Amino acid sequence: MTSTLPSQQTAFTQEDWQGGYTSLREEVDYWISDADIEGQLPAALRGTLVRNGPGLLEVGGHPLQHPFDGDGMIAAFSFAGDGRVHFRNRYVRTEGYLAEQAAGRPLYRGVFGTNKPGGFFANAFDVRLKHIANTNVIYIGGKLLALWEAASPYKLDPDTLDTLGLDNLGGVLPEGAPFSAHPRLDPVSGNLVNFGIRTGLSTSLTMYELNPAGEVVKTHTHAVPGFAFVHDFALTPEYAIFFQNPVFLNPIPFLLGLRGPGECLKFMARQKTRILLVPRDGSAIRTLEMDPCFVFHHVNAFQEGQTVVIDSIAYEDFPSVEPGSNFREIDFNSVPVSQLWRFRLDLAQGTVQRELLTPRACEFPTVHPDYVGQPYRHLYIGAAHQPEGNAPLQAILKLDLETGEQQLWSAAPRGFMGEPVFVPFPDGQGEEDGWLLSLVYDAAHQRSDLVILDARDVAAGPVARLHLKHIIPYGLHGSFTEQVLGV
Ligand code: CO
Repeated sequence: MTSTLPSQQTAFTQEDWQGGYTSLREEVDYWISDADIEGQLPAALRGTLVRNGPGLLEVGGHPLQHPFDGDGMIAAFSFAGDGRVHFRNRYVRTEGYLAEQAAGRPLYRGVFGTNKPGGFFANAFDVRLKHIANTNVIYIGGKLLALWEAASPYKLDPDTLDTLGLDNLGGVLPEGAPFSAHPRLDPVSGNLVNFGIRTGLSTSLTMYELNPAGEVVKTHTHAVPGFAFVHDFALTPEYAIFFQNPVFLNPIPFLLGLRGPGECLKFMARQKTRILLVPRDGSAIRTLEMDPCFVFHHVNAFQEGQTVVIDSIAYEDFPSVEPGSNFREIDFNSVPVSQLWRFRLDLAQGTVQRELLTPRACEFPTVHPDYVGQPYRHLYIGAAHQPEGNAPLQAILKLDLETGEQQLWSAAPRGFMGEPVFVPFPDGQGEEDGWLLSLVYDAAHQRSDLVILDARDVAAGPVARLHLKHIIPYGLHGSFTEQVLGV
């Protein structure tokens, strides 16, 4: 554990990193014992952290081609407010999960290349994709929703995590309509803002705003020229902002059963990235262009007069996995690095400037929720242990955007970091007043820990560390609700 910026050449072993991709087959339900809580659990931390991610890395003994194809598993940490923490995990019982578990073998192909056994004839022209509900989970208006960007949400029982079925947001979503996995909560209106995208040769983008009761209060749909691979967006009081990555989809290898659609994306290095500014009042989209990059996630955005500032994690190229390769054998040095950039959009001139904020490899950003869409100073993000080059996330980086000061807490060499979630102090006043909650895979003990850091002093390391009895495979996204669910 160190707070200085480290200089070792290699901070991890491939074997240790691979251990975090171990399926958790059991569904468990237990109070975390005092003996498994290291440090001091903050007395004021009350509510539930819910997380989603692939729980199974194989189906019936057939390994997945890519972890993003794994069935969604919800993990819930309920902080009772009396010093006790309860853990529970449940699989989202999607149609595909139930069918495959009953059959004991893969019945569907995966977006990222997982094929059914049986080779060409079993896979060619089978374009059914399994809804895996594995990307995010949110609690809104008394409903717990598991999100996956290509389809409608699955509704879960907030207490037991039992799957209740597909949810159409009170009749608003047409059957099968996509509702993305990256909603953003607007602290000004209190609305949850999200989008759904259908794409092919052209694209249809629908915006949704839900009030705190979970009722859809606004939708508008826009036509966008061309193919659009869009995972996330940034929000300001005026705009929803999308980066249309310069990728082209060649569907032929997918139709022939040779690759998943996620493997048919080709980065067009000579094309521009298009920035779509979608006015939240439903009026026409404004488009700006800039030199190409690839973005999954945005940190935050805000407006200063005629300038929109967006901070995002950008890759020089699409970080594809070679078709047919085993993701566990990935050579980190051979894939593009995800780095933090600031983009300045000049709305008067129609120009874009960009600046690299740190060369360190990083992903899974978060900020204080009251500062979403607002001028802000501090961000927190999963980061590599080493200051340069590509490597797995092993640390949490805090960046002061005003002074450039960086704070780092690293779990290297044997710890591997997930997405930090910012939870404000109940009586907090300032932007740094909160905790960061993140899962760490501890290769030394073959288990996952939930670490709790004080956001004011990230370099000090966790104030508490909760040891689980098992591994939670590397996950995707999660959220926190002040409701104490399930206990
Ligand atoms: Co994401």
